[in-house]
Amino acid sequence: MHGGWLAIAGLGPGSEALVTPEVSAALAAATDVVGYIPYVRRVSPRSGLTRHESDNRVELDRARHALEMAQAGRRVVVVSSGDPGVFAMAAAVFEAVEEGPEEWRGIDIRVLPGITAMLAAAARAGAPLGHDFCAINLSDNLKPWDVIERRLRLAVEADLAIALYNPRSQARPEGFGRAIALLRSCCEPNRLIIFARAVSTPEEALRVVPLAAARAEMADMRSVVLIGSSATRRVPGTSFVYTPRKVTG
Ligand SMILES: C[S@@+](CC[C@H](N)C(=O)[O-])C[C@H]1O[C@@H](n2cnc3c(N)ncnc32)[C@H](O)[C@@H]1O
Repeated sequence: MHGGWLAIAGLGPGSEALVTPEVSAALAAATDVVGYIPYVRRVSPRSGLTRHESDNRVELDRARHALEMAQAGRRVVVVSSGDPGVFAMAAAVFEAVEEGPEEWRGIDIRVLPGITAMLAAAARAGAPLGHDFCAINLSDNLKPWDVIERRLRLAVEADLAIALYNPRSQARPEGFGRAIALLRSCCEPNRLIIFARAVSTPEEALRVVPLAAARAEMADMRSVVLIGSSATRRVPGTSFVYTPRKVTG
């Protein structure tokens, strides 16, 4: 059968207004949507569209299922929140292609970008990522905790602003507390920390605190945490936070 394709699409941080027209068009043309349950549920049901919901821990199985359907001629969209290339499904699909049967390499695959959580959060706060920055996933499901700590320490040493994804879950409540302790050991107490929860949804909450006041309970799995660089500051007389674009040597 011919005409099948696979789009790996980012649904943005939550609001419909932040879904790109390109992603909406792919969803309108799809026969199948595949993804983690809450993301698939963000796609409205319609006749001719089958929604395949799966648990979060089965990314590779989900990717293989999507590839099998595309190979069989279906028009498949794999959905992620935010951007599909940021701690999400795009890498899982390519890993499945790399390990899978030869014929999968000929599948028409496209990655459709979305607005990732750190950019949505940064926009709400002002411009905290206005200079060099990095993103670190605090989940230790897919990497050991000592790698996370090392990367965090080196990012602080390089004076980057840092976006922390997956800061805290019920399964790993202690990791983020350890990250805060590490930051306290190498940053000044007034370093700005932005806790951004459920950005662009009705539950959105934004909080900016100095490192000295930061507590692990301020984040959950719906939060992204932005750690300022040493230059990140408040704009006097406003609620905005920004990082100047210029660093003097
Ligand atoms: C598995 S990662 C997926 C990231 C996603 N691909 C992206 O680009 O935003 C899930 C993490 O993204 C962050 N996140 C996703 N949506 C968010 C939102 N609306 N507000 C704040 N953080 C969000 C949280 O850190 C959450 O634990």
